[in-house]
Amino acid sequence: MDKLLIEGGVALAGEVSISGAKNAALPLLCAALLTREPLTLTNVPDLNDIATMLKLLVQMGVKVTQEKVGAGLTAQTSVTLDASGLDNPVAPYELVKTMRASVLVLGPLTARCGEARVSLPGGCAIGARPVDQHIKGLTAMGAETSVEQGYVHTRAPRLKGARLFTDMVTVTGTENLMMAACLADGETVIENAAREPEVVDLAKCLVAMGANISGAGTDVIRIRGVERLHGATHRIMPDRIETGTYLCAAAATGGAVRLTQTSGSYLDAVIDKLMDAGCEIVLERDAIRLKAPQRLKAVSIRTAPYPAFPTDMQAQFMAINTVAEGTAVIRETIFENRFMHAVELIRLGADIKIDGNTAFVTGVGRLEGATVMATDLRASASLVIAGLAARGETLVERIYHLDRGYEHIETKLAALGARVRRVK
Ligand code: EPZ
Repeated sequence: MDKLLIEGGVALAGEVSISGAKNAALPLLCAALLTREPLTLTNVPDLNDIATMLKLLVQMGVKVTQEKVGAGLTAQTSVTLDASGLDNPVAPYELVKTMRASVLVLGPLTARCGEARVSLPGGCAIGARPVDQHIKGLTAMGAETSVEQGYVHTRAPRLKGARLFTDMVTVTGTENLMMAACLADGETVIENAAREPEVVDLAKCLVAMGANISGAGTDVIRIRGVERLHGATHRIMPDRIETGTYLCAAAATGGAVRLTQTSGSYLDAVIDKLMDAGCEIVLERDAIRLKAPQRLKAVSIRTAPYPAFPTDMQAQFMAINTVAEGTAVIRETIFENRFMHAVELIRLGADIKIDGNTAFVTGVGRLEGATVMATDLRASASLVIAGLAARGETLVERIYHLDRGYEHIETKLAALGARVRRVK
């Protein structure tokens, strides 16, 4: 298994470009299932999760062609998906268990093929992560649904528009139901819908494919079903969590960086907190600059659905608070077990106390490098940030978690002056 060896203590400086958003790309790839015509996506990030999703679509009968333009860190990948030969509406356990976002094929398959067999994703490190709201919504739209031998089965000659209400804000739940509703008979209204920018990016692409959607980005989305969708070309939005992660890495090391091919427009809550911590931030049209103070001030956060502070940035903020001045209170309200990075940060010398879904982080003068283990995608990012700030060597193990969501992370960090390399 690969490891990341970090020689900490270097203030990050320089410029890197941000990749396309993983959490926009994943539902967008599934949108291709809704039409017989080719869908082309550009600015596709080169990530393991994307490769897994493409493998899942190919075994369903989708033809995939990829084109890489340019080289190195600014290379751009575009993917064209042709689902005209879709003949196997099944998502098998061995693929779904490695990536729960596979559940995003459930809505499109049910709408396009009238049936689907999708393995239940199963939990993951950060929580049980059920998909009951996805199933509840499809049932309300007239699908016959059942769960047998760990698979969700759906059957519906044609889905009917319905008024849907999700018990909690669910990002992929909203995305699944919005995609299914595009081909339903009549109007669907999704109340308590997720407002994440990735939902808006998906809606933009679906509209370009001929869907009739209004309200994406608000908590009420209206979809008027149409007979069929056609092909389109769509550029994937920048990854706001990758952006936030590099901002935190610069903040924790007292650095000054410029991130390009991105913007601050989806990161208000994160930018607010980084400024409270003492960072100077300048927003450009498609770039964002951060200059860190000599020492950060502790900032408390409470995660919640967009536009509030994103749960996917919680681990990174715990890392920067470990070396900030003062005590930060971190409340995680979305997932039930998303503090696994805390014990690893403590191995680096952090002072963290956990009480249920609240963490109390008191900044220390210096972290000391050590060997730590990544447990999930964003936890591994937080360990990298802490390793960059620590004195001495930090070895981050199991970085396959990182490769799921951060494109060429060691190359980008090295471009910012970090002493980091991948070791087998
Ligand atoms: C999406 O996951 C993201 N993944 C996650 O990013 C992100 O952390 C999460 O939204 C919250 O923002 C993708 O977009 C591919 P949810 P998702 O459904 O959709 C409960 C990353 O690091 N829930 O919004 O799976 C659920 O257990 C990943 O990139 C139900 O109970 O999250 C959780 O507590 C991690 N039943 C809460 O709702 C359901 O049917 C929010 O989950 C659905 C969700």
